[in-house]
Amino acid sequence: MNYKIAVLPGDGIGPEIIEQARKVLIAVGKKYNHQFKFTDALVGACAIDAVGDPFPEETFRLCMDSDAVLFGAIGDPKYDNDPGAKVRPEQGLLAMRKKLGLYANIRPVSTFKSLLHKSPLRTDLVEGADFVVVRELTGGIYFGEPRGRSEDQKKAYDTCTYTREEIERIALLGFEYAAKRKKKLTVVDKANILATSRLWRETLQEMAKGYKDIEVDYIFVDNAAMQIIQWPKKFDVILTENMFGDILSDEASVITGSLGLLPSASIGIHTSVYEPIHGSYPQAAGKNIANPLATVLSAAMMLEISLNLTGEAKAIRDVVERSMQAGIVTTDIAEGKAYKTSEVGDWLAGNV
Ligand code: IPM
Ligand code: MG
Repeated sequence: MNYKIAVLPGDGIGPEIIEQARKVLIAVGKKYNHQFKFTDALVGACAIDAVGDPFPEETFRLCMDSDAVLFGAIGDPKYDNDPGAKVRPEQGLLAMRKKLGLYANIRPVSTFKSLLHKSPLRTDLVEGADFVVVRELTGGIYFGEPRGRSEDQKKAYDTCTYTREEIERIALLGFEYAAKRKKKLTVVDKANILATSRLWRETLQEMAKGYKDIEVDYIFVDNAAMQIIQWPKKFDVILTENMFGDILSDEASVITGSLGLLPSASIGIHTSVYEPIHGSYPQAAGKNIANPLATVLSAAMMLEISLNLTGEAKAIRDVVERSMQAGIVTTDIAEGKAYKTSEVGDWLAGNV
């Protein structure tokens, strides 16, 4: 089969890690007789520098016209230290989410035996933890209107809104994931305070009646933050709104000790985007030391979810596992010799 893949390397280490995922996909294509047609486009700070827009129209059109999008990272310290900057790389990310209708962010959190000692948690707490955060991605306080400042500049406001349709759409996905997994869905909200959370809870309680075999529980977000580090093993699928999901998924990602290994998918109405969950790691940019595994595993998610190539996705996960067993890994997880980003990519492509 032929597949059109939009490739958005972005900023920082983005280009280096994306390159390794591309190598692996080409190797998978050879092995399984698929043709991946990659087309690169700009996003983030590099797009601002080149054309003044962090998510240019051309990039948008390419994504719409592709079977899936593989994305590196965005962000540049020169913007972080300048809160007054008129255009920011993050706006490119939000524009991408909104325009492509990326309503669900899926972040699987699983542990790797060989990395357990890197976890900030005790091994007995975290070993075997395996859950998915399903985060709503195009609603809530990230996009609600009105937002801004009062005329005298002395007051600022953001608005959190959700419609029943937005909640139902993401909840459906949450139930589907739970059905495929351990049949346990944890809905995280702040229904003791927020009207939007009460609409979430009401909607979920109604929907749950249609999923009798799925155990649904509801917890407040502050409690969830606590339980994720206390009992990470009790979770299966965590379903939550945009900002709670932003915070909890970062918390969840570090407990495995393997931030450089965690992939993610942003499921869209038009097309879906696959990206590592770590950021652009500017300190490492251009040094050929960044861990490419999260991006390679994101490519595996892409094969599975967008292209329905389950066996091919598994082949990628297997080769990643073998590279770790063989110690062909970058400095962040190396016990002995550390390999370069490109060497890890070559090894993966050669052994898939
Ligand atoms: C994420 C990031 C983004 C977010 C930032 C970079 C805008 O933290 O993808 O989780 O807040 O959604
Ligand atoms: Mg985040």
